[in-house]
Amino acid sequence: YRRLRVALLGAGAVGSHVADLLLRHGDELADRAGARLELAGIAVRDVDAPRDVELPRELYTTDVEPLITGADIVIELMGGIEPARSHILLGLGSGADVVTANKALLATHGPEVFEAADRVGASVYYEAAAAGAIPIIRPLRDSLAGDRVVRIMGIVNGTTNYILDRMDSEGADFADVLADAQRLGYAEADPTADVEGYDAAQKAAILASLAFHTTVPLDAVHREGITGITADMIEEARDAGLVIKLLAVCERLREDDGESISVRVYPALVPREHPLASVHGANNAVFVEAEAAGSLMFYGAGAGGVQTASAVLGDVVSAARRHMAGGTGVGESTRANLPIVSIGHVVTRY
Ligand code: NDP
Ligand code: HSE
Repeated sequence: YRRLRVALLGAGAVGSHVADLLLRHGDELADRAGARLELAGIAVRDVDAPRDVELPRELYTTDVEPLITGADIVIELMGGIEPARSHILLGLGSGADVVTANKALLATHGPEVFEAADRVGASVYYEAAAAGAIPIIRPLRDSLAGDRVVRIMGIVNGTTNYILDRMDSEGADFADVLADAQRLGYAEADPTADVEGYDAAQKAAILASLAFHTTVPLDAVHREGITGITADMIEEARDAGLVIKLLAVCERLREDDGESISVRVYPALVPREHPLASVHGANNAVFVEAEAAGSLMFYGAGAGGVQTASAVLGDVVSAARRHMAGGTGVGESTRANLPIVSIGHVVTRY
């Protein structure tokens, strides 16, 4: 097989498992990708930091730029806006395809990143940027491209679902469970992003942009987190046959003068018999309603290093296949580009 050089940026909860799987399953991945995926190096802040997943030490580097400019595929798993943004733009500018799980970046700088990719005929893959291991980006972008999505509704943040679930089932303390979510690799580097709903809002903006063929800016997403949810509220809900879940809802609204879109994230009271009430731990569930297809349900691990690594590696194989097809073939139309009509902040309880 021809060799493709892969630069991995980040060896944290997700990156460490991506590297591990790339190294352990190299032969199988080569068969599937039609190219040998050679891990050229792993950019980290501290090459000597103790790590949960053992990887060859010589792969670690703090010299990021040459690693990126020498790569065919750049996997960005650092998180945050900078330097992730600059590294991605450098990779695209050097002719690499990019795989990223960085919803914070895509929800705020997506158009810039996708335009940079378009300019050089490269692709940006981001299946892991929403709902962890669950395939939801491709279904919305590709499988449902011939349909009209009218609504997406679900749980898209694993950390908050894990917290609310343990508060509900064990009466666990918010701060203790958040610490567990951090230890288990579910939470963002700054967990405020999870508990205040920013992470879910970023994912909702990405999903709505794909579903409604427009660019939904992050500041148009109504956002409420779960920091105001107390043990008493959870108990009261339980007594009433309800459970509190952080929901993301993206809807196409039909009005007399046309259509608009409402995208919102908020803690909602869900009846215990509703399927969303049975989403436990760090799992996510996304319901999609489309005019022709009807109702579809996507369920699985919404957070976690090795689970998310699955989605990242799927993207890496897609990027490699595209690369081997000469940059066309299994190509991408990675972004939606119709203008948005208007955004309605319709704050209702589910
Ligand atoms: P972590 O914080 O665990 O890891 C980040 C990694 O990036 C670390 O290895 C860190 O290096 C490295 N890094 C950060 N900044 C720099 C820098 N300036 N220069 C070099 N290296 C840097 O993050 P996660 O693995 O949890 O998340 C990665 C991405 O995946 C994020 O965008 C996140 O939102 C997304 N994501 C995460 C999921 C999860 O379940 N954790 C699920 C889905 C998406 P060092 O180790 O030396 O500190
Ligand atoms: N912190 C995120 C979550 C990771 O808990 O859902 C997955 O995107």
